[in-house]
Amino acid sequence: MNILVTGGAGYIASHTCVALQEAGHNVIIADNLCNSKVESIDGIKKITNKEITFYEIDVTDEEAVDIIFSNHDIDGVIHFAGLKAIDESVRNPLEYYYNNIVSTMVLTKACQKYGVNRFIFSSSATVYGDNKVPFEETMILLPTTNPYGETKAMSERILTDIANANPAFSVSILRYFNPVGAHESGLIGETPSGIPNNLMPYVTQVAKGRLEKLCMYGNDYPTVDGTGIRDYIHVVDLAEGHVAALENLTEGVHVYNLGTGKGTSVLELVKAFEEANGIKIPYEVVERRPGDIALCYADASKAKQELGWTAKRDLIAMCRDAWRFEKNHKE
Ligand code: NAD
Ligand code: UFG
Repeated sequence: MNILVTGGAGYIASHTCVALQEAGHNVIIADNLCNSKVESIDGIKKITNKEITFYEIDVTDEEAVDIIFSNHDIDGVIHFAGLKAIDESVRNPLEYYYNNIVSTMVLTKACQKYGVNRFIFSSSATVYGDNKVPFEETMILLPTTNPYGETKAMSERILTDIANANPAFSVSILRYFNPVGAHESGLIGETPSGIPNNLMPYVTQVAKGRLEKLCMYGNDYPTVDGTGIRDYIHVVDLAEGHVAALENLTEGVHVYNLGTGKGTSVLELVKAFEEANGIKIPYEVVERRPGDIALCYADASKAKQELGWTAKRDLIAMCRDAWRFEKNHKE
């Protein structure tokens, strides 16, 4: 299939492009590089040794998107492009609502015009709010504490309404848990700008000596050791989940959790990183981070049953691969 991958130069999408090409699909990338670099596309090409068509465009730009659809016989769209920094979305809500919602509308409009009926959307576990774990796809979505989360819930709603009105339109909504790690080649990975917000890139930068120590946000949660529990998933497993979703897509709207189903605490992740890489990670326990929840992990059984997909790589592989990329990566 010819697959349009929006945000294809980004962290999760670049790994998905590799998995798509390895499964025999052709990839067309649309990215405005607002949070990525063209080097990641070079990385994909080096890994797969295949060509990629790249359009440096903003996917909220209707005319630019139309040109891609008229130039290629597109079979499906995987829509990753989006802004994702939670605190920035609180400070700058309009930018988030505009970018993340308008992009979904522009792309679905082009799909309707050109008769493209396969659409896969990057959603997030954040839409579950503080439901009871493990999170199941059938749970009522709870309001999130930030505009970013709202853009994901709203995009899900928009896609569901469009599919309800157009029975041929097939949508897969993928709710990611906490993607970490990197391709084992060390050629592509996560490159956050500035000081990382997320745990794993913060840990790898402490390991590299760029940051002095990890600030652990609270150790008084009702969890095994008091630190927050998350469902960390290797980004290559997550990427393979997209191929499974694409190849098993049927009419209607389908929602899948892409997680491991296993919760890991902040302390456990730090210990696993130290064990995997033989590097000590100094840390200090500080106040809880506003907006954080204690527990977040998936019930991952639906994706296993319907897509035949499960995450295979363990926490040690996630830590080893994250560090390999960080070590090799030049600023
Ligand atoms: P990323 O920032 O690495 O990738 C997003 C890509 O989209 C970037 O390359 C950026 O340049 C591009 N982009 C953004 N707005 C665009 C626009 N208007 N037009 C064209 N390109 C645009 O982020 P990621 O972590 O790979 O996330 C990918 C998707 O998955 C996002 O939609 C994100 O919200 C979602 N998601 C991420 C996580 C996570 O923890 N990383 C968790 C849940 C969901
Ligand atoms: N944490 C620290 N110190 C840090 C960073 C994080 O202790 O410097 C802790 C957090 O308090 C939390 C855990 O590590 O307990 C994971 O935090 P992340 O920031 O890595 O991830 P979140 O679970 O907060 O959020 C991520 C993405 C969201 C997405 C969500 C889905 O950033 O976009 O996963 O589960 F919505």
